[in-house]
Amino acid sequence: MASHTSDPQLGLAVLKAFLAEKSPLGPLRVMAERVGRFFQVPLPGFKPYIVFGPEAVRKVLITERKKFLWRNHDPVADLLNRGVLVTDGEEHDHYRALMEPALSHQSLPAYTEMMCRQTDRVSAAWKDGETIDMLVEGRKIALLIIMDALFNLDAWDDIPKIWQPILKTIDYISPGPWILWRNIPRPGYKKHIKALDEYLYQIIKTRRAQLSTSHLPLSTDLLQHLIDSGLPDPIIRDQMLTMLIAGHDTSTALLAWTFALLGQHPAILAQLTSDLDSAPEGEHPHLLDEVIKESLRLYPPIHIGNRIMAEDASFGEGQTIPTHARMFYSIFLTHRDPQIWEKAESFCPERFARGRKTPPMSYIPFGGGPRACIGAAFGQQEARIVIARLLQTFNFELVNKKIHPHMGATLEPRPGVMMKVTKK
Ligand code: HEM
Repeated sequence: MASHTSDPQLGLAVLKAFLAEKSPLGPLRVMAERVGRFFQVPLPGFKPYIVFGPEAVRKVLITERKKFLWRNHDPVADLLNRGVLVTDGEEHDHYRALMEPALSHQSLPAYTEMMCRQTDRVSAAWKDGETIDMLVEGRKIALLIIMDALFNLDAWDDIPKIWQPILKTIDYISPGPWILWRNIPRPGYKKHIKALDEYLYQIIKTRRAQLSTSHLPLSTDLLQHLIDSGLPDPIIRDQMLTMLIAGHDTSTALLAWTFALLGQHPAILAQLTSDLDSAPEGEHPHLLDEVIKESLRLYPPIHIGNRIMAEDASFGEGQTIPTHARMFYSIFLTHRDPQIWEKAESFCPERFARGRKTPPMSYIPFGGGPRACIGAAFGQQEARIVIARLLQTFNFELVNKKIHPHMGATLEPRPGVMMKVTKK
């Protein structure tokens, strides 16, 4: 069992960290420092187990992964229903196999031009010298890109209509009082989720209508693979919504954090901008990759993986998580473990130069094992293209230096990333 009860100062330290950092990340760090790589959250009504570090992560994601179920009893499962993210076993594997081709390495080059075009479209609206919020602008870019790639849909004109429903839907699955009081009334979400559902069902309907009037294959996108497989519309909706949310909220956070970190480290921003300006056409400097990797280490958009125990699992002497318990493996704590990372709290992109030197399963921004992120290659390619494109066309200067991580559906920079942009 977790040994936290033996430390009388722990409760106070946890409370202090929460008040100082205004986020549960502070308390988690205190628990990790004082208790170790296995502990239980000591809240009344919410006592999940938390593990981190390479050995535990390997157990959860690879060697004993069948003991850890993805399907949970929470708003994520309520919303996504039979989505690939919240199903297990053969059902999950079936959906995953259908969607993988659209996101494979081989499919990526076909998205390059579109990713640049959608980035330019958003940035074309910025006025010289204006202050923009990269959390908002990044989301617009990520939304346009994911809709175009997965559903072959230009969503530019739809953004005003779907913006609020999307933000509300993300809010619905974000941590909140429902964690402690599972049946607490949650008014104000239904109509937004319904609006998003209607939007997705309309996309399916339009595609089916196009198919019935054409003999030629119209597209080989993810939506087409789902339709061709013969799945019913509600299950197609579940996969579309899963991919839409998982595929753009993460990229939004990655883009926003990367700009925040670059803004806070002007020398690295200047070096990256100069490397990009002198890179041969179509090539990216290695510093770009290193910056993205380091941003994902410090602020992994998905900072924990959430599981329910199908059977008991032990994590060392006397440390057992019992069947039916809720557990998390912490990507955030693994990425900031001082036993693994030198200057764990600092932004040092050069730590990724000439390959990483930390042990396997110590760097897991996309999870790992057979259920590692299906969009990992896509998400990294997108980040490279969007960041390069923006830095090649604008100069960026961070206006709000105080930014803290907020635990929403992803780890978000709050209150936003306000940047003054000037045309180059
Ligand atoms: C920067 C971008 C992204 C990050 C950091 C990220 C992170 C992650 C992580 C950590 C996991 C595993 C979670 C766990 O073990 O509990 C995951 C799974 C997943 N991600 Fe991503 N992701 C990103 C982009 C994307 C994109 C672009 C898509 C879709 C187009 C996507 C769709 C998914 C799905 C469907 C799963 C579940 C896979 C399965 O259960 O088989 N993600 N992602």
